[in-house]
Amino acid sequence: MDDHIQQAWQFYRNLGSPKFICAPMVDQSELAFRMQTRKYGTTLAYTPMLHSRIMTESKSYKDEFFTTCPEDRPLFAQLCGHDPQVIIKAALMIQDQCDAIDLNFGCPQGIARKGLYGAFLLEKREQVLTIVKELKQNIKVPVTCKIRVFKDRKRTLDLTKDIQSAGCSILTVHGRTKEQNKDFVGQCDWNIIAEIKQLLQIPVFANGGIYTWSDVERCLQETKVDAVMSSEALLENPALFSGEIKDLNELALEYMQLAKQYDARLVEIKAHLFKLLYTGLQIHTDQRSKLAAAKTYEEHLEVVIELKNKRADIPKEDKLGWYKRYQNFKQPNQKDKEDDKQENIIQEQDLLLQNYDS
Ligand SMILES: Cc1cc2nc3c(=O)[nH]c(=O)nc-3n(C[C@H](O)[C@H](O)[C@H](O)COP(=O)(O)O)c2cc1C
Repeated sequence: MDDHIQQAWQFYRNLGSPKFICAPMVDQSELAFRMQTRKYGTTLAYTPMLHSRIMTESKSYKDEFFTTCPEDRPLFAQLCGHDPQVIIKAALMIQDQCDAIDLNFGCPQGIARKGLYGAFLLEKREQVLTIVKELKQNIKVPVTCKIRVFKDRKRTLDLTKDIQSAGCSILTVHGRTKEQNKDFVGQCDWNIIAEIKQLLQIPVFANGGIYTWSDVERCLQETKVDAVMSSEALLENPALFSGEIKDLNELALEYMQLAKQYDARLVEIKAHLFKLLYTGLQIHTDQRSKLAAAKTYEEHLEVVIELKNKRADIPKEDKLGWYKRYQNFKQPNQKDKEDDKQENIIQEQDLLLQNYDS
């Protein structure tokens, strides 16, 4: 086994061999949420994607979007970008406050096409490999990567092997292509994840297609990956990795306390509450409008408390529903406005980045 592979495993073991991972999520895997999921079985968390260039140009961007605390570990900070020097500069700014720098090669949004990062950069093999190599040589924490897959299986497998050789210490594979996005999310391909796990020697994390705790167990079993990363199911049930469905009203209240403690932004609070309270808001649409219009922390808290009383008699299991909306295969014209709002959260972040850009 070569040195790099040995070091990758040593690194993973030193983190405590985490198995249950909170995904990077713009406006959603912020400090308060990470701290909540850590209470319920998450053993490693990622920051939301941070834009390298904007980070190096704007101190206010860094201060607003990269917040952490000593208890918030292990933590991988995720960067996006395409210029190795800029990515290195951004990584050097935060490497002392995280355990690894993760590179986003998975974002399928329009802004990633425009800025040439995420899944669009994945098309440029040489550039991807140069970024991984140069970043590894210039920072003191390990470099990890999160990718989507190509339709062409061989191309995917070849690229993952090259990424490993370039110095990536952990690879997360989201088993969907960049075209499987928005209304075309569709099935996540665990078979390709299993093939990648079999092919590579570094630790591999699986991402995508997790709805419930039994999916977590099944994914570990079927793909043999080292860890499972969840995004949307965890947003709806931050206690997913505890293997239990806790009372979502209580979790919403607890999130509000953490949001206050860790100074979450209102945009983050609102987006979390739409998911945590999804089923209640479907029934009590007056509260949904109230949540949409809420402008202060207190107004958001008021909705949580009112809804707690109103849906007290709904069984815990029946309170889940937001992530299942994909299973209903809703056509775009069947979706309600709040679904759209929530699904477009990354696009809102796009706008925000554009503002910082201008
Ligand atoms: C609100 C939201 C924000 C996201 N932001 C990021 C991000 O910053 N970086 C990233 O690599 N993926 C991001 N993703 C994608 C997720 O990390 C994950 O790859 C995807 O949702 C599939 O996992 P799931 O099926 O468990 O939801 C985001 C997803 C959501 C729903």
